[in-house]
Amino acid sequence: MVIYGTRPEAVKMAPLIRALEASEVLTPIVVSTGQHREMLDQVNKWFGITPDLDLGVFKAGQSLTELASRILDKLPEVLRDAQPDAVVVQGDTTTVAVGAIACFYHEIPVVHLEAGLRSGNLFSPFPEEANRRLAGQVTSLHLAPTTTSRDNLLREGIDPATIAVVGNTVIDALNWSAGESVEFEDERLAEASSAGRRMVLLTTHRRENWGEPMGDIGAAIAELARRYPETLFVFPAHKNPVVRDVLYPLLEGLENVVIVEPLDYPEFVHAQKWATLILTDSGGVQEEAPSFGKPVLVLRENTERPEAVVAGTVKLIGTDRQRIVDEAVRLLDDRAAYDAMSHAVNPYGDGNAAERSAAAIAQLLEVGERLPDFAG
Ligand code: UD1
Ligand code: UDP
Repeated sequence: MVIYGTRPEAVKMAPLIRALEASEVLTPIVVSTGQHREMLDQVNKWFGITPDLDLGVFKAGQSLTELASRILDKLPEVLRDAQPDAVVVQGDTTTVAVGAIACFYHEIPVVHLEAGLRSGNLFSPFPEEANRRLAGQVTSLHLAPTTTSRDNLLREGIDPATIAVVGNTVIDALNWSAGESVEFEDERLAEASSAGRRMVLLTTHRRENWGEPMGDIGAAIAELARRYPETLFVFPAHKNPVVRDVLYPLLEGLENVVIVEPLDYPEFVHAQKWATLILTDSGGVQEEAPSFGKPVLVLRENTERPEAVVAGTVKLIGTDRQRIVDEAVRLLDDRAAYDAMSHAVNPYGDGNAAERSAAAIAQLLEVGERLPDFAG
């Protein structure tokens, strides 16, 4: 059984669902907690996935404890009815931590896809760092994306035999979608991209950025938009009103800022290809954008994804307004600084992570053999 609930989990689970469907020894049961609604449905639709079951736990604005208790309330019946041989969870959301604990209570082996990412700070990102550590404690098979994440698990005393380095399925998903020819539905985006207008892409949603830090991000983007009237600033706004309430007043009304609803996944991939520069606090975007050789300024104090920072295409800059402006100006004005950051690297995967993951799950269930690890 694969259990997932949010947009990024759907993107990264889709390749594994396909690999399990293609397997001769495994059959997937696809369960959505429905933690997200519109943003999840968008991704399911693109990848052609219809969950066998949807727990429908979405409730706008619910607290983390409310969300967790709704999942814990609804999942046991599904586990009892389906009796899966193993359950796969992906990443670090509330769906992951609570799903893993529910499976542990039901004595069902947990497989953790994208295991071993660590920022080293329990409270940042919040609650994701705790969610992935909690899931890791009750996991029977850790599918680590990189050798860095494997080493994090080894340092925590995890049995090496339970870890497979598989790469990140985000790259499998990207490879399927990056070649698609995509038209933006939004006319302003369609027109500007076909005209080759310079574009800066922004996404933000992290809980630790809510409030003042997000206000600083918005103020920085507004300042940049005024400074570069020829450049388009595109902000696909996360559905969360907590994000929108802060950013809309700062960005609305600026002629060269386009605020859009969350883009369909292939459109967002296309936007990353088009962008000159990306500012984000997203985890997935930090993994995708380096594939396109696009400089990424990460609006966070730390990252559990150091590989692209080491490779030089991603830079951690935090949320100080002046710092954001200075770093963006440097990249937009200084060709040498831009070129130094803009080389395509793919430290997160080679497009075969789902195949390796399915093989490792088959071995866990004693119906197959693992493939060699992803070397990175
Ligand atoms: C969640 C994950 C986060 C992940 C992010 C991906 C947790 C605690 N957080 O954060 O790790 O990076 O998803 O986007 O698991 N909303 C909608 N429609 C949607 C989705 C969200 O209206 O389709 C609004 C609702 O008001 C909801 C709010 O956004 O209450 C927050 O959603 P939630 O799932 O609690 O957290 P995210 O901030 O989306
Ligand atoms: N994404 C998307 N549409 C958008 C913004 C992002 O499809 O408008 C995709 C993006 O390509 C990546 C994923 O959503 O695969 C990242 O999700 P998000 O930033 O919400 O969560 P995180 O990765 O931070 O957990």
